[in-house]
Amino acid sequence: MTDIQDLEKLEAEFATAIADAMDEATLEAVRVAALGKKGRVSELMKSLGGMSAEERKTAGPALNGLKDRLTDALATRKAALSEAKLEARLAEEKIDVTLPVRESPAEAGRIHPLSQVMDEVVAIFADMGFAVEQGPDIESDHYNFTSLNFPESHPAREMHDTFYFEPRADGSRLLLRTHTSPVQVRTMERGKPPFRFVCPGRTYRSDSDQTHTPQFHQIEGLVIDETTHMGHLKWVLEEFLRAFFEVEGVELRMRPSFFPFTEPSMEVDVRCARLGNEIRIGEGDDWLEILGCGMVHPNVLKSAGLDPEKYQGFAFGMGLDRIAMLKYGIPDLRAFFESDLRWLRHYGFSVLDVPSLAGGLSS
Ligand code: DAH
Repeated sequence: MTDIQDLEKLEAEFATAIADAMDEATLEAVRVAALGKKGRVSELMKSLGGMSAEERKTAGPALNGLKDRLTDALATRKAALSEAKLEARLAEEKIDVTLPVRESPAEAGRIHPLSQVMDEVVAIFADMGFAVEQGPDIESDHYNFTSLNFPESHPAREMHDTFYFEPRADGSRLLLRTHTSPVQVRTMERGKPPFRFVCPGRTYRSDSDQTHTPQFHQIEGLVIDETTHMGHLKWVLEEFLRAFFEVEGVELRMRPSFFPFTEPSMEVDVRCARLGNEIRIGEGDDWLEILGCGMVHPNVLKSAGLDPEKYQGFAFGMGLDRIAMLKYGIPDLRAFFESDLRWLRHYGFSVLDVPSLAGGLSS
């Protein structure tokens, strides 16, 4: 038989256990120990059956009261625990919506200045009605030299510091193209005159210093029809340089030069001012060599299957790395190829800054 004092002690014991339960699993264990099928309180309730009517009169209400109070205490503690759990989770998962949004890849990414310059140059020539053509980086001796009127064993071939592949069974050697000029004949062979196109691309020479890398970039231009002359050539180059350097007055100087594939051949300089390390195009008393050009040699037209008595035109070739360095004040060419992210973040362009004559080239 349990007396009232025992019940009070039991109640106090469970009350402490309930208060001490720090999570729902511990609280549930307390509930099972008190009110579960085999719980201490449940066992006591079962013992009511064996009591006399007199005993049951006091023990019944006392046990029921104990059961009710424990049930309430358990429910209250359970609510408190689940509220605390929610609070903790909210505190942990809180998001500060006032924090700045992380940059998207489209904002953080940068376009290499060389890619930007290629796009700028192509945009300018496309605006003048030039198509864009391409040719392979691995070339034959024929397209890189012979078809362009380089005589066999002519010293100009040596001047190109060519990277050759191992000789093939027939003795011929493929090479990495030393200029974009082979695309002239390749494209003329494929189509019919008139031609008006540019070809930007990779070129290779065994050379390396602050202004030369073994792989570099050029753009070639070719216009062939029945009437195109040097006046047109000069106008096209002036228009191009004015648009590219984004200055109103660009003054050109054409100096006689030699290329096997043009006759006459010229080198073009632009007027510039040198102020310490800075070069300003379109002003000053200095000249800067910028490209080679000329009237296409009759032998080149013949290589492409065209009648030089009927067709004529001009060609030009320009180093893209060089004009990129000039326009954007980049001092060392080798940095173009080093993939240094800090450099790219400094000199690179926003992905969405697509150059066009209407929208602006570099701004
Ligand atoms: N292919 C020449 C070079 O790499 C550049 C060049 C000069 C191209 C004159 C031309 C040209 O089309 O007419 O040095």
